[in-house]
Amino acid sequence: MARTQSTAYSREAWEAVTSDSDAQPDRHPVLATLYAEHRYMATLMKLLTEQLTALEHDEPVDAHVLYELMQYMSSFPDQYHHPREDMVYQRAAQLDPGLADSVDTLERDHDYLAKVGSDTLAAIQNWRSGTKPAKDIVAHGHEYVAALYRHMSGEEKIIFPHIERLLSDADWAELESEDLLAPVADPVFGTRVAREYRKLARSARRALREGAEDVAVGEWIGVEAMLEGLEVINIALDSGKAAARDHFEEALAENISIVEEAREQGGLVLVPLRCAMANTGHYFGFLRDCGQLLRDTGDDLVEVNRGMRQRLQFGRREGAGRKGDQTLH
Ligand SMILES: [Fe+2]
Ligand SMILES: [Fe+2]
Repeated sequence: MARTQSTAYSREAWEAVTSDSDAQPDRHPVLATLYAEHRYMATLMKLLTEQLTALEHDEPVDAHVLYELMQYMSSFPDQYHHPREDMVYQRAAQLDPGLADSVDTLERDHDYLAKVGSDTLAAIQNWRSGTKPAKDIVAHGHEYVAALYRHMSGEEKIIFPHIERLLSDADWAELESEDLLAPVADPVFGTRVAREYRKLARSARRALREGAEDVAVGEWIGVEAMLEGLEVINIALDSGKAAARDHFEEALAENISIVEEAREQGGLVLVPLRCAMANTGHYFGFLRDCGQLLRDTGDDLVEVNRGMRQRLQFGRREGAGRKGDQTLH
């Protein structure tokens, strides 16, 4: 396991490579999306590292966030980000055969990341079910973080600048006709958060907002908790709308099939009654979904409140520690 990283493979090295890579307004949207997804993944790697450090020191960890994080990494980047890159890299290697070796290495990295990601996810599942110790997560997780930073830094240093230089508008237009490169909403960082990633999305957005340490701690934590609370409510509203739409579409399809079936059998008399019964079933199904949604939302808001109190206590302890340090000097 590569626990001891050379500086070339560290988070700092990756950040150094990427420090000026965002300010490119002419960048093709596909490449801009790949860069943006690197930022998102780096945010998640910071969160994962925090959780791994807590596990190493027997401190409390957020098992939901840990699981959602690796579940997301194994589903979204492995299904969209890396395969899209493979497609773009292949085109770059056709235009410049000198890139073939680098492209081959990066594509093998994708396979390796998928394997270590799935090992890490399995370790988290085994730990949650009590069948394996936390140290398995720590070993696989650190390897995953190191491998992903190493990989992203290689991509941004070696291949992305070549892609920008080599691919013409016609190349991009041809690539864009492939289904794989069609825009897909990110379930954590997109405008609509998928319900199964709601805890991860809140933690990730909080991590993105970090950097405001100089603001008065209590004031900032209060604002942050309010923003988190709004996100909980937004996610719940989105989920409620999606549930209503799903039930409406299912009810409509069922009503159409009732009418068609009755027409084929030549008797329309019972159609209104059968439709009403089907619609009532969907109505109660929708109410059940709403009940679950309200319970989840209530739990999430309680959790936000608890997190705010813990961070306030931590902030006060830190503040007291800093004052103590100052008096010693
Ligand atoms: Fe990649
Ligand atoms: Fe990438």
